[in-house]
Amino acid sequence: MALNGKVAIVTGASLGIGSAIAVRLAREGASVTIDYHTHRDAAGTVAGQISGAGGRALMVQADVADVTSVGNLVNQTVAAFGRLDILVNNAGIEQPARLVDVTEEMFERQIAVDLKGPYFAMQAAARRFITQGSGGVIINISSVHEDLPMVGNAVYCAAKGGLRMLTRTLAPELARNQIRIVNVGPGAIATPINTATLNDPQKKAALLAEIPLARIGNPDDVAAAVAWLASDDASYVTGTTLFIDGGLMVSAGGL
Ligand SMILES: NC(=O)c1ccc[n+]([C@@H]2O[C@H](COP(=O)([O-])OP(=O)(O)OC[C@H]3O[C@@H](n4cnc5c(N)ncnc54)[C@H](O)[C@@H]3O)[C@@H](O)[C@H]2O)c1
Repeated sequence: MALNGKVAIVTGASLGIGSAIAVRLAREGASVTIDYHTHRDAAGTVAGQISGAGGRALMVQADVADVTSVGNLVNQTVAAFGRLDILVNNAGIEQPARLVDVTEEMFERQIAVDLKGPYFAMQAAARRFITQGSGGVIINISSVHEDLPMVGNAVYCAAKGGLRMLTRTLAPELARNQIRIVNVGPGAIATPINTATLNDPQKKAALLAEIPLARIGNPDDVAAAVAWLASDDASYVTGTTLFIDGGLMVSAGGL
């Protein structure tokens, strides 16, 4: 197993892409901390799935927007499993709205969860990695919208675009400590975050028309990429983004 003996944290691991990543990393041999915010029962289901398959899982409640909670997430992981090797910044929210409708509160929450949260989680993980002295891997679940504009969702795009620049800027800073940082940019993946779009036949058809591989992705498509990036097979990969999008990013020329 590619991640035998490794210890991972996955933020927002109770649902969607995060839960698939947690289960997949555990299947590869990692001990996994399942961070959850409000969905305790769903997190329990993920932990049960991991332990039922013979893996090790720890549940920790932490709002990634709160810097103290994020520090506690790392501390509890180290207390339970003895070390930390992999951080997956997956937790994220979307609050689509036009410029004229966005409130200060909406703006601040979006940036706090999708940009500030990953930044301070990277800081807490990097401090631990440096103390351990044996490197580490940080994977940020970004989006095709770290690069691709989405009309009516500018603050989300700004947060993910910020995450792109954090990865590109921090990867060389941390490379001397053998810490790799990579973004994974999903396209359209079937999870609770986009239920409204996927339940609307017209919106779903319009979305499918933009995807060269002509299907909506599933959380396991993203989890497989994260498992590879977290492994030593990807030991020469840092400071970049791997898009998992069925070709969406390169379909602008038309299909
Ligand atoms: N589904 C897609 O099509 C898609 C596309 C591109 C990028 N993404 C990104 O993938 C990541 C996961 O999205 P998803 O589709 O699984 O969404 P989701 O809504 O199904 O899951 C998001 C998870 O994050 C958790 N979360 C939200 N706020 C949190 C907070 N403050 N602290 C801790 N946890 C919090 C939620 O409880 C949930 O477990 C997000 O960063 C999202 O932006 C998703």
